[in-house]
Amino acid sequence: MRKLTLTMTAAAFVGSAGLAAADDVEVLHWWTSGGEAAALNVLREDLAGQGIGWQDMPVAGGGGTQAMTVLRARVTAGNAPTAVQMLGFDILDWAAEGALANLNDIAAANNWDEVVPEALQGFATYDGEWVAAPVNVHSTNWVWANAGILEELGIEQPGTWDEFVAAMQAAQDAGYVALAHGGQAWQEATIFDSVVMATGGPDFYQAAMIDLDEEALGSDTMVEVFDRMAVLRGFVDDNFSGRDWNLATAMVINGEAAFQVMGDWAKGEFLNAGQTPGEDFQCFRFPGTQDQVIFNADQFAMFDQGGEVSAQQAALAEAILSPSFQIAFNRVKGSVPARTDLDVSELDACGQQGYVELQAASASGNLFGSFAHGHASPAAVKNAIYDVVTAHFNGEYDSAAAVEELVLAVSIAQ
Ligand code: GAL
Repeated sequence: MRKLTLTMTAAAFVGSAGLAAADDVEVLHWWTSGGEAAALNVLREDLAGQGIGWQDMPVAGGGGTQAMTVLRARVTAGNAPTAVQMLGFDILDWAAEGALANLNDIAAANNWDEVVPEALQGFATYDGEWVAAPVNVHSTNWVWANAGILEELGIEQPGTWDEFVAAMQAAQDAGYVALAHGGQAWQEATIFDSVVMATGGPDFYQAAMIDLDEEALGSDTMVEVFDRMAVLRGFVDDNFSGRDWNLATAMVINGEAAFQVMGDWAKGEFLNAGQTPGEDFQCFRFPGTQDQVIFNADQFAMFDQGGEVSAQQAALAEAILSPSFQIAFNRVKGSVPARTDLDVSELDACGQQGYVELQAASASGNLFGSFAHGHASPAAVKNAIYDVVTAHFNGEYDSAAAVEELVLAVSIAQ
């Protein structure tokens, strides 16, 4: 008993004080669900194969808001982790502060300029320097469905908003939870990504969420977006408040709920539960966004430890973008590779569809950064919009008031 206590204390001390062995990397991330942890393990084992140890620094909370708060505290205390999972504008913000290590040598040796999609390079480079290594491309405009429920109720995959509403109504009438959802601001924001795109189309999404155009933010179309959010709210069960996203996914997996609107990290949960796409569950684009891809890419930024990038940081960055790792990791994570040059025949049907759609959307100008996951605006604006979307979802505002608050919140946050 005594020995166990001592061991645990020692382990906790090493983790929190950053006294990792020189050969270790300390990795701050928010991958704590079953599917996420399984994917992270692929990375950990890849590094272990190279003799590099892993100090885990998980900070639970989908979307990474809490992880970013912990990161800020660590850096302020002069104790930055070696490597940090990060999204979009957060990477650029830290790069602007001069906190990130320069990965140009690794990028040049491995041809990142050629193989990493341009949209990702926009967030992985700053002032001509590579400052992060993209590990995947996720996208948020997906719906996940329990195949058994759809079959039992004779529901076809919905292709339009009206069909989606009718499908959810049928599921609710039959006694199922129509829409599995966790009441957390980032989850409501994730649905908002799709609803804005489906309701207003790509030009509207660009104007409102990326350009933050006041007219678009305050428009009648945005009122309709909020009206649709209220419709979705009507299909959520009574216990949604505070529920983690993976528990909502579990409701679809277990046959308690028919649908979930969530990024393709949800697929990692289905796979982790031994389910197969097309048989046990279905994946399809949020109705009305079939031609668009709303993306977010997880990247690992290396914090400057004073001096050159360390051998361990270099090894981690190199491993992350290696072709074999990209396939092995993304198969488990639910995302698609962050390289354009890979044979993805080993991905499952949803993954192959996602990869083809990503390339098509990129070629046709239909690829947009996710507002909810930090690829449309800096954190201050993102968080301000989160607050309005979530307050409306919880009944604090009607749609017209929400639009007014949205315009105000964005103008203050900018
Ligand atoms: C996203 C992240 C994904 C997934 C999700 C839920 O922000 O990009 O990798 O982990 O959060 O935790």
